[in-house]
Order: sequence, then C-alpha cells, then structure tokens
Amino acid sequence: MVQFTLPKNSQIRVGKTWPRPEGATNVKKFQIYRWDPEAGENPRLDTYFVDLDKCGPMILDALIKIKNEIDPTLSFRRSCREGICGSCAMVIGGGNHLACIYGIDEVPGDIAIYPLPHMPVVKDLIPDLTHFYAQHASVNPYLVTKSPTPGKEWKQSIEDRKKLDGLYECILCASCSTACPSYWWNGDRYLGPAALLTAYRWIVDSRDEATGERLDELEDPFKLYRCHTIMNCTNTCPKGLNPAKAIASIKHMMVDRVV
Ligand code: SF4
Ligand code: FES
Repeated sequence: MVQFTLPKNSQIRVGKTWPRPEGATNVKKFQIYRWDPEAGENPRLDTYFVDLDKCGPMILDALIKIKNEIDPTLSFRRSCREGICGSCAMVIGGGNHLACIYGIDEVPGDIAIYPLPHMPVVKDLIPDLTHFYAQHASVNPYLVTKSPTPGKEWKQSIEDRKKLDGLYECILCASCSTACPSYWWNGDRYLGPAALLTAYRWIVDSRDEATGERLDELEDPFKLYRCHTIMNCTNTCPKGLNPAKAIASIKHMMVDRVV
C-alpha cells in the first residue's frame, strides 16, 4: 500500500508570538513562515501585530515595519516596491501576490504569509529561484538572427510590434509557475508558464529567425506538453498576463507545422 509521509522537517510548528503594540486601536495580526537553515529546526509560524495607523497600506509596508521595529531577523526579498522587479512574490492570504502592490486591506481577517509554494527555501520568505532562472535561460530569451546585421536596426512594423504586447511585460516573479500543479509535480522537466510565455514572446517576434529551432526545442512530452490548461498561471499573474494563452498558441503552432 502506498504510504505518503511528509519529511520530518516540513512540518510547521507554532512559533513565537510578539507583543501587541501598546495603545494601538487599529491592529492587524500577521502569521509569517519562518525557517532558518542554520538553526537545524523545523519551520515555524511567528505571530506579529502591526499598528495599521502607523503603517503604509501595502503588505510590503507591514513586512518592512515588522523587520525595522519588531524582529530584524525576518528575511524577505524586495527592491522596487512598484511591481516591476518581481522580487517580492510570496503567498499572502492563500494566493501568490507581489507584496509591494498587494494592499493590507485586500486580505480579510488575519494575514498568513508563506514563501512561494513548492520551491526550496533559502530562508523565511525567500525561495530559491536558481532552477526557475535556468529554465528561463534555456529558452534563449533574446533575438536570434541569421541574416547580415543591418547597419542601423532590426526593423519591425507597428502591427508586428503589437503582437508582443502582453508577452514582453513579464517580470519573472515566478507567481505563475509556482501556482501550477503540473510545475509542482514535474518542475524538473516541465518548463512552466513563465519560461513558456517568454519562449512564445521570441517565437512570435517578427525579427527572430530561429522560430523552427525554438519549436523543435519545445517538442517534448515534458517541456511543453505537461501543461494541462489548469489556468492557475493566468489567474495568478500580478501583471495581468496570460501565460496559458501563450502556451496554447505554441501548441497550435506545433500542430500547424505538421499538417
Ligand atoms: S507571467 Fe506573470 S506571474 Fe508569471 S513570472 Fe511573468 S509576471 Fe510573474
Ligand atoms: S519589490 Fe519589486 S515587484 Fe515588489
């Protein structure tokens, strides 16, 4: 009989509860995943109380306030705080979001925060994206040409340029791939929605001259066809992109070129 057993260190225990801010009347409770690889202990959920009258409106504001004023050991990634760099993606209130553009008031009740799902954790809310970035690099995310390089620029019509809208804006936050059950189970070989969106962005670029080779690379039972159109990627993307549609378009191109 099959027996499913979680690794011992994957079990999350109850962590420390930090004191409520004195005199505050508008307080929000945050429960945050904590794990330090050097401590040799199981992950835990620490509880913090934030005075919303003295905090900015976004989840990232609360995290920065906690780190600055309550617990400097809390670790998370952030850079731009404008939804541009993609570094602050995490699970907030049960879904993948960018902490910097997700409002505290968008989450009813207490707010639970975890690192992106099914990724190795570096520390606390920081996932290890090494494999995710390697998959992105594997689709050759740049212009490939064979014609002689023009003296000034590779030209593109306005209509062809428009075909890239909704594709080039990806900020590599990994929210889509880590929301995808196919990626959870086969992330070692399935490229995932983010890498495939980028692959399609270059496949349909009118200036690119490696379309056939790009499709050849994706003609694989795992790299592309492990997408089962679950749609979590599109529902999750904080930039409003549609990786599921891009993947479907690649599948169409695969069929079109053999019939
Ligand atoms: S497609 Fe959207 S969710 Fe996926 S990595 Fe790009 S920006 Fe993030
Ligand atoms: S800090 Fe850059 S996207 Fe959130």
